[in-house]
Amino acid sequence: MDSGSWLLTPEFMKSIVINGGRQLSGEVSISGAKNAALPIIAASLLCEGEHRIANVPSLVDVKTLTKILRNMGVTVELADHSAVIDSTKLANPEAPYDLVRTMRASVLVLGPLVARFGKARVSLPGGCAIGARPVNLHIMGLEKMGATIAIEHGYIEANAERLKGARIYFDIVTVTGTENLMMAAALADGVTILENAAREPEVIDLAHALIQMGAKIEGAGTDVIRITGVEKLRPMNYRVLPDRIETGTFVIAAAITNGSVIIRDCAPQHLDALLAKVAESGAEITLGEGTIRIVGSETIKPVNVKTLPHPGFPTDMQAQIMSLMCLAQGTSVINETIFENRFTHVAELRRMGADIVIEGGSAIVKGVPKLLGAPVMATDLRASASLILAGLAAEGQTVISRIYHLDRGYENIEGKLSALGADIKRV
Ligand code: EPZ
Repeated sequence: MDSGSWLLTPEFMKSIVINGGRQLSGEVSISGAKNAALPIIAASLLCEGEHRIANVPSLVDVKTLTKILRNMGVTVELADHSAVIDSTKLANPEAPYDLVRTMRASVLVLGPLVARFGKARVSLPGGCAIGARPVNLHIMGLEKMGATIAIEHGYIEANAERLKGARIYFDIVTVTGTENLMMAAALADGVTILENAAREPEVIDLAHALIQMGAKIEGAGTDVIRITGVEKLRPMNYRVLPDRIETGTFVIAAAITNGSVIIRDCAPQHLDALLAKVAESGAEITLGEGTIRIVGSETIKPVNVKTLPHPGFPTDMQAQIMSLMCLAQGTSVINETIFENRFTHVAELRRMGADIVIEGGSAIVKGVPKLLGAPVMATDLRASASLILAGLAAEGQTVISRIYHLDRGYENIEGKLSALGADIKRV
């Protein structure tokens, strides 16, 4: 394709081309966490005034949430990894389907809107490639806090005089469910107890931002979170924590290419389960202050993985470690317990020569001596990452289409990988 014509290609038609076989080396800096930035941006709906948020990653999902806030009448300035948000003039507490359907995490505006305005009209998020992803627990919690909720024409219509504190038990650990109700409880009348709450670092980061806003929250990071509602909150001035899934993806990139990489501006303490598995597979991992050093090993040992809520092995790293296991000397069993359909990357990895059999919720990965580059298709955010990782190690050229999935959750991944010596470009 000559240089000029690719300019005419709409973003979603672009592909990533990788010529595999390069060993990565050098240093890479990690961006702010997508899954902390999203709830923290939503928290700016809880009170008037100018909120300042730093280390915001430049991602499509962040831009989508920004559009949803602007659509409500909120002013949002996004520039150079920071956001300045003022929801004083919020006019209509509504999140429309055409925006929500592109990003399920938009449901995070529900709790703040009901807490501050006593009403909200938020489109039910559709399902997505990895599963049905219902939000029944979000709704159950708000109803326990006194909201009346109707589901009509694909929208959640919520109304409440003033939310009341309640004891809410999650029968399934839900990250955004915990976050939505923690935000709602911050302004409720009385004490709310969230039991079997999510313990992800991003939940803790949101709690820290809310506490800076004047919220009274204890126990974030444990499975029981206690929130004592207050009358009013004040604007935050908060810095988002590093993205542990981006970090984990680069850990695997170094291991799968038998490279030697230093990852900076990260939080190694949030990745114990992943780092333990990558070390078990033979890579040499050294932790420093906000840094991880990975040196790959010639032979990759098979490891068994079971995804679990934090601090267990993160489901968002399941596709990525599967790519590594495709090249292990032996058989690995990867059991996905969080989502019912998070193996869409398997068919694409098979196109590259991987030997994977799915048995119910587990993938049996028999290592092969090498993967071969091939044209493949991204199906969801983390599946895209697993295909890039496989392409880095494969012999020959891999072309990945539908990379709009990738841009939702990784900031300039091809730029960061090129800087580490990968032969990768977007066309
Ligand atoms: C968050 O999604 C993350 N997204 C996901 O990351 C991550 O995979 C997931 O947590 C699990 O860690 C954000 O934080 C924005 P859940 P979330 O509610 O909150 C079921 C990525 O790649 N469930 O913890 O939507 C649900 O179906 C994304 O960055 C209910 O049944 O996930 C799933 O099986 C992908 N009812 C399980 O719980 C509910 O009301 C965990 O889902 C809510 C959830």
